[in-house]
Amino acid sequence: MITFRISLKALQVAAGLCVLTPAAYGQTPAAIARGQEIAERACGGCHAIAGRPGSTVQGTAAPSFGAIAGRPNQTSQRLESFIMTPHRPMPGIPLSLAEVNDVVAYILSLK
Ligand code: HEC
Repeated sequence: MITFRISLKALQVAAGLCVLTPAAYGQTPAAIARGQEIAERACGGCHAIAGRPGSTVQGTAAPSFGAIAGRPNQTSQRLESFIMTPHRPMPGIPLSLAEVNDVVAYILSLK
């Protein structure tokens, strides 16, 4: 029963992502500015942002957002699912889908 509930939730999340139009991923200047503000607040403790140094968590260095943006074949979809999936040593970060979209727009603007 528990497994069923979890997979139902996963389906709802997947369905929610499908509803987004490509425009929702738009790198508008407003989205990038919001994303930078969110990133400085929610991610800056670990990742290097806007000239501040990053840090090491449980022996793993958090890569800079510039380096993350520059990964080969980096896409907004990959970044989004990464940010929304908790995995060690990076914690799950409680952001709304809109906030995640803005952060992704900001990261990709650093390419
Ligand atoms: C508590 C520290 C911490 C916080 C807060 C944090 N991260 Fe991370 N993050 C890490 C560490 C450490 C890694 C490297 C290990 C890994 O890939 O899981 C990482 C990896 C990543 C990666 C994958 C990089 C790659 O190798 O491609 C992305 C993307 C990322 N973080 C985005 C974010 C975003 C966006 C936020 C804020 C919303 C955030 N992180 C907040 C510690 C953190």
